[in-house]
Amino acid sequence: MSRPQHFGWFLARGFGPHGWGHPYLDWNLRWTEPALYQDSARTLEQAGFDLLIIEDAPSLGSADTIDLRVRHAFGGPKHDPLLLAPYLFAATTRLGVVPTVNPAAYLPYTAARQFATLQHLSGHRLGLNVVTDTGSARHFATAPPPSHDGAYDRAEEWLTSIRALWNSWPDDALIADPVSGVYADGTRLAPVQHRGEYFGFDGPLNALPFTDGEPAIVSPGGSGRGLGFAGANSDVQLALAPLDEASVRSYRAKIHAATVDAGRAPEDVKIMFAIQPVIVSSPEEADRLVAASRHPDDGAVRRIAEKHSSDLETDLTALDPDRPLDLAVFGGHVSQGSIKRLVGAHDVRTTPLRTLLAAHARLGRISDRTGFVGTADEFADLIEELGEWGNDGVLLWGDLHPVTVHRMLDELVPILRRRGILRSEYVSGGLRANLQAF
Ligand SMILES: Cc1cc2nc3c(=O)[nH]c(=O)nc-3n(C[C@H](O)[C@H](O)[C@H](O)COP(=O)(O)O)c2cc1C
Repeated sequence: MSRPQHFGWFLARGFGPHGWGHPYLDWNLRWTEPALYQDSARTLEQAGFDLLIIEDAPSLGSADTIDLRVRHAFGGPKHDPLLLAPYLFAATTRLGVVPTVNPAAYLPYTAARQFATLQHLSGHRLGLNVVTDTGSARHFATAPPPSHDGAYDRAEEWLTSIRALWNSWPDDALIADPVSGVYADGTRLAPVQHRGEYFGFDGPLNALPFTDGEPAIVSPGGSGRGLGFAGANSDVQLALAPLDEASVRSYRAKIHAATVDAGRAPEDVKIMFAIQPVIVSSPEEADRLVAASRHPDDGAVRRIAEKHSSDLETDLTALDPDRPLDLAVFGGHVSQGSIKRLVGAHDVRTTPLRTLLAAHARLGRISDRTGFVGTADEFADLIEELGEWGNDGVLLWGDLHPVTVHRMLDELVPILRRRGILRSEYVSGGLRANLQAF
């Protein structure tokens, strides 16, 4: 038997137009109605997944690329995933639900109160994917946005002050004794007076304390400052790295070092690698798909350019595809990680843009580790191998549409269960308890 791992789903396009651009749009499931997501959330729970993370960007990005973002719904519109969470909690009993939140968008007191409410209503199943993107800063204030590291400093102050509010009720403050008629001892509450660099407010919080711990914190940042944030604050790190042994072990070592530096134990943070496999029914079908992607046509390359333009807030379609990419086209706010993902292992000074883009259209096989197309058995082999290197878990990445979810999971779940990698039962106590169960 292999060691068990945690599984999650990363709803990559956020709470947006699911199915757009895919034939399964004609299932007529509406992205603006909760039934679409509730159905898939039930399936994830039946599959024994720990959590569902919902990507978000509160903005349509810079004025130059708004059209590129919305034309094929790559980057919007999007509704607020925090408000989708209660509908998903209502449809499930065990699954953790993790909306993405940006500290720029929520004052700490409001955030502490809303998150506490959802944590209680859900049976302690709330998680928060705390992101530090500053591209949407202008919607929340007219002041210039903080720097990359400044945004992490703000996120850390935000979270620390939210935790102080959650802890403003010590264990003995809530009495709830019907005989004496005393509900709570107000003299026990900590006043909480926060005066920080980014926020200033007074407490205490008027929400109840938690019985099974605070909402779980998830973080996706991969820079040095991002890893430091994860080490100090996170229960789950959403990891992106090449999936060879050296890269996986090195990524894990960095997170563990940051965790120990922050005075916590390495096992306090579960590191989950985000993977988007294409699961097919036979090795022959996988070979066919890979071969068909070898020579992408102009239309396929343009589609990739549009998608990256949306992610990078820079119109790549306006550049000459036969010249190398000048990195000066990217403004300071563009994520270095996203630029690195576009360039890959190429030498950016000499490689034509068309070559960079075409590389993203080409698929590879799971079986020889050149890509992510393969059978469920081949994908399970990869996950098992990750487990041998100490990996804690895997986040599958895609739309939250029944077609995507079933294509990915129908064969995979029984295989992973038979190998002892995927849980068959949840423990009680909510998301945090399930994350710490192994
Ligand atoms: C896998 C992954 C998922 C992310 N999801 C989001 C998201 O949903 N919303 C968002 O605003 N930023 C998201 N980010 C961006 C991060 O919050 C962060 O701003 C970015 O990675 C830059 O930080 P870094 O330099 O520490 O990596 C994501 C990043 C990664 C790697």
